[in-house]
Amino acid sequence: MMRLEGIAAEIARRYGYRPIETPLFEQTAVFERGIGDATDVVEKELFRLAPRTDESESWSLRPEPTAGIVRAYIQHGMQTWPQPVKLMLIGPMFRYDRPQAGRYREFWQFDIEAIGDPGPAVDAEIIELADRFYREAGIQDPVIFINSIGDEACRPAYVTELVAFYGDHLDRLPPPERDRLARNPLRLLDSKDPAMVELNATAPRITDHLCEACAEHFAAVRSHLDALGVAYRLDPHLVRGLDYYTRTAFEVYPAGVAGQQSALGGGGRYDGLVELLGGRPTPAIGFGLGLDRVLLALEAAGLGAIADPSPAAVVVGADPAATADRLRIATMLRAAGLVARAELSRRKLGKQLEAAARDRAHFAVIVGDELADGQVQLRDLEAGTQKVVDVDHLAREIGRAHEAHHHGVAAPSS
Ligand code: HAM
Repeated sequence: MMRLEGIAAEIARRYGYRPIETPLFEQTAVFERGIGDATDVVEKELFRLAPRTDESESWSLRPEPTAGIVRAYIQHGMQTWPQPVKLMLIGPMFRYDRPQAGRYREFWQFDIEAIGDPGPAVDAEIIELADRFYREAGIQDPVIFINSIGDEACRPAYVTELVAFYGDHLDRLPPPERDRLARNPLRLLDSKDPAMVELNATAPRITDHLCEACAEHFAAVRSHLDALGVAYRLDPHLVRGLDYYTRTAFEVYPAGVAGQQSALGGGGRYDGLVELLGGRPTPAIGFGLGLDRVLLALEAAGLGAIADPSPAAVVVGADPAATADRLRIATMLRAAGLVARAELSRRKLGKQLEAAARDRAHFAVIVGDELADGQVQLRDLEAGTQKVVDVDHLAREIGRAHEAHHHGVAAPSS
């Protein structure tokens, strides 16, 4: 998890997103109004805090960060900053649900929000950012689905048509979907129930009902993604589980896997949310990527082990008792920016070397009698070679060789 957080923070920094922390809990109204009170997230999954007798406000743990970030944007006058305000947050979210594989009550998101830019270029930039995060995290070929779900100008007429379509096929709707029809008809479109999948194949498509402005926006998002070389698939049935979305919507899945539980992340435009929560009308877009799901996908692909980097060097010693020497040399290597471990047990040299090999260390630094002359033996465990090196040159020597073998690993600045 920390490795993923590090990659997320570094990418966000490169793209100019500044960190924001919002409280783990907010007034329930922020979520009810922002996310929509007919959504599963608010209706069924909100962790409501028990009210104190002297407290008239209702509070809930955050199920997602976007509503709280927009609340902070308005409250702290970020509308007066140069726009767009580009923010990122990494942290835990809480949704009360039956825990199951990939669906936890506490889970971590990497969240990005660009508030104050109507797009379409920033839409593509954000989707590309998500794609880059997955690739740097080690997910091979994440599959990005995109759609436009229109805006207040074109969506109402489409929803009316969709409700009429389902009304003509009421007998084919499973009972939970029939319930939803009155409250949240769009959600029927991404039902995974086989009967619904079949029915939805003939349902009217939002992309055939976009107003001119939304259609133009969507075409431009696609042409920007094409210009960036980001692969995506169009999915006219993609709707999101939160009510605040307008126009661009996207979700990411591991290659060859579908189904709500495996979405690695999702996001989209929410041009009405700032105004809905009491600010001036302000366009915005963002995403939330599920870090637990990314870890699960890496494990499923047999890549769980990349989470623990092997050391560049393990410092071992001929004199098992000379732990201070080994520790001092490892400390010096770490100060030079190298991943190094000192063998602090008092076992025999042979056992120490075995452990270094098991750690998949590139080098073993063997501290022996030469230390009196300021030297140590440097054994390249990958190449099987060994030589005497001045302690003063050790970090530079290991750093250079380690970088040459492992592209992308930074050399120390000595
Ligand atoms: P979301 O689709 O509800 O969007 O959640 C984003 C991601 O969080 C999901 O794709 C999934 O990877 C992960 N996730 C959601 N629920 C769980 C869970 N119970 N256990 C594990 N992982 C989970 C949002 O939250 C929006 N705020 C995204 C956004 C930001 N849109 C605009 N800006």
